[in-house]
Amino acid sequence: MKLSSANINVLVKVCRKAAKILIRDFGEIEKLQVSLKGPGDFVTASDKKVEKIIIEELLQARPNYSVLSEEIGEIKNDEEFKWIIDPIDGTANFLHGIPHFAISIGLEHNGEIICGIVYDPIKDEMFIAEKGNGSYLNNQRMRVSARPKLKDCIIFTGGPKQDSKNKDITLQEYKKISSEVAIPIRKMGSASLDMAYVASGRCDGFWQRNLNYWDIAAGIILVKESGGFITDFSGENRYIQNKTILVTNSKINKEMIELLK
Ligand code: IPD
Ligand code: CA
Ligand code: CA
Repeated sequence: MKLSSANINVLVKVCRKAAKILIRDFGEIEKLQVSLKGPGDFVTASDKKVEKIIIEELLQARPNYSVLSEEIGEIKNDEEFKWIIDPIDGTANFLHGIPHFAISIGLEHNGEIICGIVYDPIKDEMFIAEKGNGSYLNNQRMRVSARPKLKDCIIFTGGPKQDSKNKDITLQEYKKISSEVAIPIRKMGSASLDMAYVASGRCDGFWQRNLNYWDIAAGIILVKESGGFITDFSGENRYIQNKTILVTNSKINKEMIELLK
């Protein structure tokens, strides 16, 4: 079984095309690590180039849909449908030649994400989901993990996020959680892949402050269609507006909310 609706087919095609550029540029970046100037400008150019290809292809397939994309912002067309794009999620990894980053594209319909893709071009891992039709990793059905006990879990986070006194709140949360429960907490550096990994059961939960909509749009549908929970830190579903996101399997949500209080 695999997903093959018209919108999913568009997403898959667009990602495959953009990934070719990303893979080629990643090879160049690895070489630039040792140059004095470093790969900064090259990465910025690559990010923009990939975004341009994605948007051109999406608008060719769906000329009426609107777009919200990290680098160029909004293109206003149809009010109902909007592509939400992060051309490279995990730019710091990409810049350092670390093979952990993704193209992330979600499709919003009247304010709700109805399908999405997170594609890791280096590992050739394609995470896709569509509302009501499930979620897949390279055509294998995904489910969140079934681990009921936090002590057996792996949790991801990202950041840092400084408060007004320049304290790193994420670090404080990290210390609190790991002192109360001795669990491994990882910072992988790509929020969309963090969510895709919860969706596929590789890790059990993820929390982060201050993410943007393009970081999480595709991840939202991956997690929902895999049976996971997405809330803000108080268990409400205003995670986009409140910019605090907690993603878990179906068992550890309450425990994580307690710990994040
Ligand atoms: C970043 C990544 C990272 C997260 C940051 C994001 P970018 O996106 O998702 O994991 O911790 O908050 O900004 O800049 O690589 O697209
Ligand atoms: Ca991002
Ligand atoms: Ca980005």
